[in-house]
Order: sequence, then structure tokens, then C-alpha cells
Amino acid sequence: MAQTSYSVKTIEWQGDEVVMIDQRILPLDEAYIHHRTWQEVGDSIKTMVIRGAPAIGVAAAMGMALAAMQSSASSYEQLKADLDTAAKGLFETRPTAYNLGWALKQQEQIYGQPGDPDEIRRRLKERSQEILDEDIAMCVAMGEHAAPLFPKGARILTHCNAGALATAGYGTALGVIRSVFRRDPGIMVYADETRPFLQGARLTAWELQQEGIPCRLITDNMSGYFFKKGEIDAVVVGSDRIAANGDVANKIGTYTVSVLAKVHGVPFYVAAPTSTVDLGIPDGDHIPIEERDPAEVTHFREVQCAPAGIGVCNPAFDVTPHENVTAIITEAGVHREPYSESLAAAKKGK
Ligand code: MRU
Repeated sequence: MAQTSYSVKTIEWQGDEVVMIDQRILPLDEAYIHHRTWQEVGDSIKTMVIRGAPAIGVAAAMGMALAAMQSSASSYEQLKADLDTAAKGLFETRPTAYNLGWALKQQEQIYGQPGDPDEIRRRLKERSQEILDEDIAMCVAMGEHAAPLFPKGARILTHCNAGALATAGYGTALGVIRSVFRRDPGIMVYADETRPFLQGARLTAWELQQEGIPCRLITDNMSGYFFKKGEIDAVVVGSDRIAANGDVANKIGTYTVSVLAKVHGVPFYVAAPTSTVDLGIPDGDHIPIEERDPAEVTHFREVQCAPAGIGVCNPAFDVTPHENVTAIITEAGVHREPYSESLAAAKKGK
């Protein structure tokens, strides 16, 4: 059994408050934000205090529990109306991460049936904690399934941050790397910096450094150089949404890495819990891609690095076609083509 120790608490209940580490200011500052309302949780999802599909799902589930506590409703009908409003508001925060809608549906299973308002309030909070605990367990299981896929001394490229910070803890892609490292301390990780939000430079590099996992930070445009030199043995990334055919949405730039991996004959692995798998869409063309604020591209924090008024594109995600994916690892195991069958089997009963 892999250890689950990791240094970061991404999100947790403290009494009746939801506390998140502020991922916008890491690694230079470590601060925690306390949330008492679903609106505050929604703002933190939108502004990336918390980010990463599974972590967003946990936050949404906790946001629904806060919404129930905020509501003064004494009747089921009024509570349901208040919760529907909260669910709509939370759903609209970020469009690509499937875990967000998945978590809201989990909560809807509780408040969608008439019942005693106080019992619904209790269950929503309890379920949000279960979703957090299940997420960590799924990450650990993914690590166990995936670790044997990596050769000894593997040099592994990852993109964005799919670590403890992007989940309830342990991580998907970084969870896999943690599990590989525990079996083989001789591995080396190349972390793409991941422009424009720098999740790789700020978060992945920080997580790996804290655990003493050997890491080299590279800019996104350097990976081709290292593939060509034969210095990358495998790629592992997370995902925000996986379509029924195995097409994978992940942080912008992931598609480019998958093409490089294919050209160079390097395995390209995706690690994601089944709560990221959207069997309701046939392929990646149906995945909504979030367009974010141009200031993320023209500025770093307050510092401007492009001419004022320049036109900007800032899609936050891209889609890697399933043909470029060697295997998808979920908590249920290692899935390969045809993904339409293997993913459907993994989701069965969930
Ligand atoms: O915009 P972000 O930082 O929320 O994007 C995160 C990613 O793309 C991650 O790779 C993905 O959510 C998987 S996290 C386990």
C-alpha cells in the first residue's frame, strides 16, 4: 500500500468553515482562506484559489453544504429552491472540469428527494467529506495501478499541476509519480512550467521539491528538445474531462506534448478518477473549453509583459485525441483502446 502522506492540505472543513490554501500565491506565500458561504466558494473556484478538476469537485460539494447551512428555510421546498440556486451558481464557475458537475449531482441525490431540512443539511456536509476522502483513495489506487508501467530510473514529463493541490490530496498524475518514486527513488521528473498560469513552475515544482522527488523545471517550449535527445521515457498528465471515446481535455499545451510523445515513441499516460470521465459526450469536440482573462497572458501578477491593447487568445485547455493516449489510469485500473469499452466498464456501478 502506498503511503498517503503529503505536505499540503488543499481543502478541508474546520468546524462549519471550508478552508482552502490559496494556490494563486504559492510558492512565495502560504495563506489559507476561510469560506462561510457558497458564493465565497464560487469566487475561489473562479479566481483559482482552488483549481484542478478533482479539487474543484470537492469544493463544489462543500459549497453546497455551506449553501444548506446558509439557508434559513424550514420547509423542504424552500431549502430545495435555495440549493438549486447555489448549484446553478457553482456550476457556472468553470466549464471544463467534469468533476464540478459530477459533485453537484452527488449532492443533488441527497437534496433532490423530499426530506427533513436539518437532515439534508447534515447529509450534504457528510457527503462532501466522503467525496474528499474518496478522492484521496482514488488517487492512491491510481498510483498503485500505474507504478508498474514505468521503467527503472524513468525520466517522466508532466504538464500543469495534477498533484495534491489539484485534488483532495496525493494527486492524479503527481500521485502516480509519488507512487513510482516510492518504488524507485532513481526517477527524474521534468515539469513543464505551464504558461500562462504557471501551475507547473509554482505548484508542481513546489510539491516535488517538498517531497525530495528529483525534478527539473523546464519552459513549455523546451520539451521537444528533451524528447529529441531521448531524455524522456514517459509522460503522465491529469485530465479535466475525458469523453466516452477516450479523448482527453487537460491544461493547454497537453495536446502538443502528446504529439511530441507520439512522434518520439514515448508512452503518454493520463491519470484521472472516474469522476472525470463523461460518458455523456461521444468525443472531445463536445468538451467546453474555458477561455480565461487575457491579463493572464499579458501580465504576470501586476507586471505587464506585452503591449497594452494587444489581442490575446487564452484557451485554458486543449483536447488530446485518444489515438495519442497510451493508457488511461483510473482507480479501477489501467484502460487501453478501445476506450469506449474500457471506460464504460470502469464507470459501471459508479
Ligand atoms: O486551470 P486548472 O489549473 O484548474 O487546470 C488543471 C489541469 O488542467 C489539471 O491537469 C487537471 O485538472 C487534472 S488535476 C488532477
